[in-house]
Amino acid sequence: MRVLGIETSCDETGVALYDTEAGLLGQALHSQVAMHERYGGVVPELASRDHIRRLPRLVRQVCDEAGVPLASVDAIAYTAGPGLAGALLVGAAFGCAAAFALGRPAIGVHHLEGHLLSPLLADDPPAFPFVALLCSGGHTQLMHVEAVGCYRLLGDTLDDAAGEAFDKSAKLMGLGYPGGPAISRLAESGRPGVFRLPRPMLRSDDPDFSFSGLKTAVLNQVRRAGPDGLDDQARADLAREIEEAITEVLATKAADAVEASGTGRLVIAGGVSANRRLRERLAVRAAAGSFEIHFPPLALCTDNGAMIAFAGALRLAAGEGAIPAGFEVRPRWPLASLDAPG
Ligand code: KG4
Ligand code: ZN
Repeated sequence: MRVLGIETSCDETGVALYDTEAGLLGQALHSQVAMHERYGGVVPELASRDHIRRLPRLVRQVCDEAGVPLASVDAIAYTAGPGLAGALLVGAAFGCAAAFALGRPAIGVHHLEGHLLSPLLADDPPAFPFVALLCSGGHTQLMHVEAVGCYRLLGDTLDDAAGEAFDKSAKLMGLGYPGGPAISRLAESGRPGVFRLPRPMLRSDDPDFSFSGLKTAVLNQVRRAGPDGLDDQARADLAREIEEAITEVLATKAADAVEASGTGRLVIAGGVSANRRLRERLAVRAAAGSFEIHFPPLALCTDNGAMIAFAGALRLAAGEGAIPAGFEVRPRWPLASLDAPG
């Protein structure tokens, strides 16, 4: 079965074709980063309009390059939430209209389920059950994953998400958007231990996170530098400490959670899973032998259409999906409220 996947929940227009026998047949992505950069973050109205402009062309491009006419796909999967309402509506309207016109089922996919299952697209996919750390721009959650659709929330952030902490810190330092890659790049020339930022809730026994204090601590460091601001080396040193603080908390809590779960498998997904330092830290903890670790392929860490096509294909194979008579999106949608497909 061939499934067309459409992702438009935030600032990336992603399209992909996934075949349940042959795997990924093709994908294309348009990032709106350059468009939003001057505003220091995503402007929802601009995001929606750009998805409208890009999506039809990207669908044609993916179908042409894969040699698969749109009329021959078996189903269309689109991100139904969570995300920006207007941006979600573009993908949902396009996906459901195309599915209706073709007489094929449409499947509304949960964006975080797409992230969470994306490591199954890697060469060494994890078996179920596993513990997943979902760390994106809007979410930082630890989930116990029993099977597709069987998700139990273990821990959540009480305030900012990890990606948000990267993005807000970068903004305070006058770095570009998105902040994660910008801080990570700058951190390479930073020296360890020059600054000391808090590790919120690192040693607390509960598996929740809190990152808003970190942003305040970064703001204090920037203010302390005075009107001339931080010099280049100090900015790099601070970037390094920001990355150290966020990744130490994420890696420690994820490793503790998987060890407590007895599953022996940890999956890391969402945009922050692209972070090199986070991967290094988890590799060190995993080397002690108590768990194995799985990431999505690097190109599939941030938002993309492939993870939506794949999650849609798994649900389609389990009997989900119908020719749409209408559609709705869910800008807020807890992952743990999902059911197993079928
Ligand atoms: O999953 P994603 O692409 O979009 C959401 O669903 O939110 O995640 C985007 C987030 C942003 O906050 C971005 O700064 C962060 O992922 N990110 C990174 C890296 N690449 C993306 N954070 C740290 N290091 C990276 N290399
Ligand atoms: Zn995402």
